[in-house]
Amino acid sequence: MPQRRFLITGGSQGIGAALAEQAAAAGHAVVVTGRDPRRLADVASRTGVHAVQADVASGDDNARVVADCVARMGGVDVLINNAGYAYRGEIGTMDVDAMRTMFETNVFGLVDLTNRVVPLMKTQADGDIVNVASTSGMKGAATATAYAGSKWAVRGISQCWQAELRPHGIRVTCVCPSEVQTSFGGRTGRNNPNKLYAEDIAGTIIAALNMPRRVLWPELAVFATNPWKED
Ligand SMILES: NC(=O)c1ccc[n+]([C@@H]2O[C@H](COP(=O)([O-])OP(=O)(O)OC[C@H]3O[C@@H](n4cnc5c(N)ncnc54)[C@H](OP(=O)(O)O)[C@@H]3O)[C@@H](O)[C@H]2O)c1
Repeated sequence: MPQRRFLITGGSQGIGAALAEQAAAAGHAVVVTGRDPRRLADVASRTGVHAVQADVASGDDNARVVADCVARMGGVDVLINNAGYAYRGEIGTMDVDAMRTMFETNVFGLVDLTNRVVPLMKTQADGDIVNVASTSGMKGAATATAYAGSKWAVRGISQCWQAELRPHGIRVTCVCPSEVQTSFGGRTGRNNPNKLYAEDIAGTIIAALNMPRRVLWPELAVFATNPWKED
């Protein structure tokens, strides 16, 4: 892939940070966002990418991030909608306000930021948008009304954008990881070599982006081969 301009949301740790590292190492220009200034500074100093403190649930922040990308890189070629988290609760006991707040990040923030980036991509008749959904958006489970609902929404939205943007030469890929050993859900410190790591999902995304532009991978589910094995 020639040198491209990446905007990665939720790049302060986990999958987003691993992708930022791989993209920067491959010579791409990279801007990452996140809310935690300490983690952002760490990613910036470790990888050399430009880190912007911004909440994807804020329209003002999204406007500022896009303006920053235009000022710093001249635009955006690759938008990675990765920022997200899980609120879990069983029906009958759910905090619906917590679900709404989570949708502001996982769904409405993703739509708002993309809504601001797509006009730039249409002008250049080129672009890649990668939405990080989840296998939770492919199969329902107990306590997953809110989180699975948000990721099913991301998968459906991805299909809508494919219908709208393929004629403009813009690819939309929805990546659905199974369990990945990150700080997601506060579960730090896991290290089972048979389960997925953040760099596996980053590598999957880079592989999709590396396909010739005539090739679109619309959706990719990523599982560990044998996560039940304990070493
Ligand atoms: N780990 C898994 O098992 C798994 C499986 C399937 C899908 N996923 C999805 O993969 C994506 C990345 O998850 P991860 O595993 O890398 O989790 P993680 O380690 O918790 O990282 C999440 C990232 O999102 C950022 N973020 C969260 N809310 C944000 C907001 N409102 N605005 C900007 N940034 C925000 C966080 O940064 P700040 O805290 O600094 O804002 C952090 O950089 C998520 O969409 C998640 O749903 C994860």
